[in-house]
Amino acid sequence: RVREVSVTEPATSLEALEREAHGCARCPLHGCATQLVFGEGPAGADLMVVGEQPGDREDLAGRPFVGPAGQLFDQLAGRAGLDRQASYVTNAVKHFKFTIRGKRRIHQSPATGEIDQCRWWLEQEIALVRPKLILAMGATALRALTGNGAGILKRRGGIEAGLSGHPVFVTVHPSFILRVPADRRQAEEAAFVADLTAAMTRLP
Ligand code: URA
Repeated sequence: RVREVSVTEPATSLEALEREAHGCARCPLHGCATQLVFGEGPAGADLMVVGEQPGDREDLAGRPFVGPAGQLFDQLAGRAGLDRQASYVTNAVKHFKFTIRGKRRIHQSPATGEIDQCRWWLEQEIALVRPKLILAMGATALRALTGNGAGILKRRGGIEAGLSGHPVFVTVHPSFILRVPADRRQAEEAAFVADLTAAMTRLP
């Protein structure tokens, strides 16, 4: 009797990859989240935008960057002339990680092991989209994309070689801007818009 061997062929489209990802159990996070939140955007996008992980709103909606951080991103991207619809937007980790406090689900940062497991999906998204530039927003995205967990603030504004061979532009996460004291908000927004503007000069 011939033994069955399971062979995992790389997915040949984002749709096929997303279908596969919805069954993901590579780490325990799938057990608590409502659903996996896959990336969205055109397959041939020049720019890929990578965040950390879905938040509460994204977990319920099943789409990346639709909550407060996503709304701020859309607004600041608009100021920089960056068209989100033309970009591929995704996260380093595809399930929402949280703890329960009362009735609220409080975001928890993903562990390095979770980031490393989820790179399986991120790398295949990159291989299918083949972006000219990847925008890493925040420490989790930057670690997932470069394998380097060194502090982000010294690396901000630079372009690094990603593990996939694609150039990675480093900036902060929009939720960082949401958390700064009110008197720093305007300056942080302007610095983020300046980062997005600089990143776009690298696009064709
Ligand atoms: N923060 C992220 O990093 N990604 C989202 O999709 C939403 C909030």
